[in-house]
Amino acid sequence: MDSYLLKYKYAKVFAPASVSNVGPGFDVLGFALEEPGDYIEVKVTDKPGVSIKKITGDGGKLSHDAERNTASFAALSFMNFIKADFGIEMTINKRMPFASGLGSSAASAVGGVFAVNALLQNKLPNEELIMHALEGEKIASGNSLHADNVGPALYGGFVIARSIFPIDIIKIPFPEELACLIVYPHIEIKTEEARRILPDMVTRTNAVKQSAHAASLIAGIMLKDYRLMGRSMTDFIAEPLRAKLIPMYNDLKSFLLQYGAVSFNISGSGPTMFSFFDNPEVLKDTAPKLRKFLKQMSIETDVYITKVNNQGPKIIQVK
Ligand code: HSE
Repeated sequence: MDSYLLKYKYAKVFAPASVSNVGPGFDVLGFALEEPGDYIEVKVTDKPGVSIKKITGDGGKLSHDAERNTASFAALSFMNFIKADFGIEMTINKRMPFASGLGSSAASAVGGVFAVNALLQNKLPNEELIMHALEGEKIASGNSLHADNVGPALYGGFVIARSIFPIDIIKIPFPEELACLIVYPHIEIKTEEARRILPDMVTRTNAVKQSAHAASLIAGIMLKDYRLMGRSMTDFIAEPLRAKLIPMYNDLKSFLLQYGAVSFNISGSGPTMFSFFDNPEVLKDTAPKLRKFLKQMSIETDVYITKVNNQGPKIIQVK
């Protein structure tokens, strides 16, 4: 393989899950998680284009057709952009649930692009990668483009997706010690369906409340003011309608706020929910109580305790 573009012939990368919306930041605010996430491997081949060698952890749900798979299509879009004179064979190891509100398709799309970038002599910056990751995510999410999962999955940390055309992602500082509790009930909510139930129009009162809360949430994050973050976490557009799709939403909200959570809201389009805690000790005390509480519910649930992932995707191995 004699491509002048390539430095390596193999790369394995990790791309993280993310929480999007973050209360009032509907379609614009998101943050990356330390775990879970996807592992993507790419191996250079002489045959141009992308082929999928193997997919694991998807329960047979994902397409092996490179044009119809989020990770490979994103990689292909990026390879066309750089006029790749090589091909790749891709292995996808999904380590996170689908239709969960944790940005599963964004993680795959970011992983696909990031893995190809890891092979290159001259790596391209995130500003050049993101549109290709969004192209990949389109396969899963239909035509409604939003960068509040792809943005944090690629840039890491907390991001504001101000605009897509032209792309404008702003990474903001956040309290490093911020601990996040993720509750994933084993039900599927498809983003497309969770978007369909939302109204096209919002009232002026709600528009004002939503922007007030989004602005003060961002101020709270940047000022490390947890109380401000907590009282800013209300979403006036999606939460009232989507909460009805999650059977135990209100019970869990009351439970976690009672046991020291700073906030509670839906992650992306659900069903996953998330809470911030300002004190890891409180979270450590609350987690077992929560697990006990969840056992009484009829739905199986996973609980993750994770910090915000400031790095975004990472290279596991190149050779
Ligand atoms: N912002 C999106 C939504 C995230 O809430 O519909 C899910 O992709």
